Amino acid sequence: MTLEQKLDRRQARLAVIGLGYVGLPLAIEFARAGFTVYGIDVDGGKVAQLKKGRSYVGDVASADVARAVKEGRFIPTTDFAVLRKADTVNICVPTPLNKTKDPDVSYIVAAADEVARHLKKGQLVILESTTYPGTTDELILPRLTARGMTVGRDFFLAFSPERVDPGNAVYQTRNIPKVVGGVTARCTKMACLLYAQTLETVIPVSSTRVAEMVKLLENTFRSVNIGLANETALLCDRLGIDVWEVIDAAATKPFGFMPFYPGPGLGGHCIPIDPFYLSWKAKLSGFEARFIELAGQINGHMPEHVVRRVVQALNQRGRAVKGSRILVLGVSYKANIEDTRESPSLDLIELLEELGARVEYSDPHVPRLDFHGRKRRSVTLTAAALKRFECVVISTNHAEFDYREVLKNAPAIVDTRNALKGKKSPKITRL
Ligand SMILES: NC(=O)c1ccc[n+]([C@@H]2O[C@H](COP(=O)([O-])OP(=O)(O)OC[C@H]3O[C@@H](n4cnc5c(N)ncnc54)[C@H](O)[C@@H]3O)[C@@H](O)[C@H]2O)c1
Repeated sequence: MTLEQKLDRRQARLAVIGLGYVGLPLAIEFARAGFTVYGIDVDGGKVAQLKKGRSYVGDVASADVARAVKEGRFIPTTDFAVLRKADTVNICVPTPLNKTKDPDVSYIVAAADEVARHLKKGQLVILESTTYPGTTDELILPRLTARGMTVGRDFFLAFSPERVDPGNAVYQTRNIPKVVGGVTARCTKMACLLYAQTLETVIPVSSTRVAEMVKLLENTFRSVNIGLANETALLCDRLGIDVWEVIDAAATKPFGFMPFYPGPGLGGHCIPIDPFYLSWKAKLSGFEARFIELAGQINGHMPEHVVRRVVQALNQRGRAVKGSRILVLGVSYKANIEDTRESPSLDLIELLEELGARVEYSDPHVPRLDFHGRKRRSVTLTAAALKRFECVVISTNHAEFDYREVLKNAPAIVDTRNALKGKKSPKITRL
């Protein structure tokens, strides 16, 4: 049976490498469509949880994992040898930055080496990790062709950026359009065929480089526009203008304007990191990506700006930061999810503790946090708890927060998210 036939009949065996925020929802979606899916991860703890039917990703229900495991459609494992049985392989491993803010592609390379070791004729390999244009061609292709197989004939290789938005109730893996670019036209066709089995919309593009660049443009667009919103907030502060009111009014324009909002800084695994994959690649070609660097600087300084606000709020009450008790509301990088990676709230905690503050946090999505040398527990937001603090900083706007209680009981509030929109009180210091 050809790969096309196996995919059409949902008889292909699929493999997903890297079962995190991206790989796990994809694997479960493939299993839901009727495929048998091998889920491979180097983290034995995660694999053990999945085998027991437990999900550790907010957007994936444990019941769905349990059902897929029980029915034998999802097989979590740490053993890469299952790749020999797979007709397709999706690589969803992390792409962080290293200490010098350069791309760390070691996870991609490690995964690609495993795929190369087990590559078989007719296999389709797709990279989904966000990375710089050229990665699929330069890092993966040579590894797969090293043993004499020809791409587009003996095996197929494509890049398809993942656009998942954790916590988004409307757009999830299945209904987010999927961009696909293969090394050859046949590679694109095969990859599109795979995704078309389970995703609503598939958008072929002419090459892997185009597909890689699409994702980086999307994330750079967000980073730059958030940078503009943050700079506008700093400017409006100088001019004595309410930036939130300005943005809301500008957003009434039915065309040509899209609202972005200021905040305590960028967080998550994508927006603060991905644009630097692009600027790194640009530098290699002698091109300086100035917007990216500038947005990175502005966004990166926002936690310090929030700390200044905390200093002002305490100052008004005749207090120093040193020795003050400060409660940070929300430590995940955005509302209503549990992911704390690169969260600006962590920068805030660190900066405030360096100034001698005694910082605690409250986050219904993050009951425990091991950070800045301390194992911490989320504070439950009661009237008594709120009164223990000299200042409360709203850093992430979770739906669970009862701001009426905060407003009633906290002595001072720094609101970085306009969570107290329309509320007037001398207690409130806005971003
Ligand atoms: N999280 C998001 O919202 C999001 C959105 C779009 C794109 N992305 C991109 O998708 C990629 C994956 O991100 P994520 O958030 O799912 O990361 P993650 O850290 O949640 O998951 C990655 C998983 O890969 C595993 N892993 C690492 N090396 C491995 C290897 N060699 N073999 C097998 N497994 C390995 C890790 O143990 C982990 O479970 C990144 O490139 C990221 O930029 C993430």
